[in-house]
Amino acid sequence: MNKFLIIGPASQMLGVKVAKELGINSINTEFKTFPDGENYLRINLEDESLIQGNEVIIIQSTGPSASANQNARVVELAMMIDSVKRMGASKVTVIVPYLAYARQDKIFRPGECPFAKVLLRMINSLGIDEFYTVDVHEPKILNELNCKTINIDSMKVLADHVKSLGAKDIVVVSPDKGAVERSKTFAKFFGQNVPVEFFEKKRDVKTGEIVMSGELGLKDKDVVIADDIISTGGTMANAIKLSKESGAKRIFAVATHALMLQHAKYRILTAGADYIIGTDSIDNEVALVSLAKTIADYFRFE
Ligand code: R5P
Repeated sequence: MNKFLIIGPASQMLGVKVAKELGINSINTEFKTFPDGENYLRINLEDESLIQGNEVIIIQSTGPSASANQNARVVELAMMIDSVKRMGASKVTVIVPYLAYARQDKIFRPGECPFAKVLLRMINSLGIDEFYTVDVHEPKILNELNCKTINIDSMKVLADHVKSLGAKDIVVVSPDKGAVERSKTFAKFFGQNVPVEFFEKKRDVKTGEIVMSGELGLKDKDVVIADDIISTGGTMANAIKLSKESGAKRIFAVATHALMLQHAKYRILTAGADYIIGTDSIDNEVALVSLAKTIADYFRFE
């Protein structure tokens, strides 16, 4: 039996690296958008019997980019899964490094839909065998899937990168209380007694506006601010500004999924960040850390 990695349009760099790490053959896709806006995708092969009876891993992130929004990425993902099922794959494993809609995981205001859960139920209905994602905003939502699920942790590789930049006398700062536990785990990768601090953050659920407050003892410290997502950069910029006011020396703005939308780069850099570090779950210029080996290791050790 053979194993193939199908590399989706949104994960080309990462996909090729994962295939190399695992030493398996990869197949790419042909994709386009029709004039009416509909997506088209085909697995780039001429002989469908290649897939029949074989194991397939699909990798496709679902973050927005200049060339496609997350809805298009989700549709492409569904097309890939259905195509390999139809071709008779014996096992279908899906890796979605960044899961779109993950922050819409519950009802914040009457009348809403927790679409993160709906999306997972939709993926589940396509009949997959395993689902992998990375640092998903709320891991509990993975219970919507009936198959085996893994939430891959990117903290070690992100911490290794920060260390390689010479960070010392580190304090890890969580941009809100909710992320403190994750930040504590993250801090352990820098040493046993690395302190973890947090700011108070309140987001207006109607306007999305953030108010952050607090003063921490960060004098002359290298501060690593870690979040799961940087979207517009508002949360990170606020945390950087307060960290600077609290005396921080250098600031490392770290996120697993650095979407960098709108003026995120400008906001974060002008707030005082020395580095912006993301992973290649999102293929952009701040994707300084590759998840390839971390993802591949989960397959090697299984
Ligand atoms: C929120 O709960 C997330 O963990 C991030 O802090 C948030 O999504 C970042 O968004 P933005 O960059 O737009 O502030």
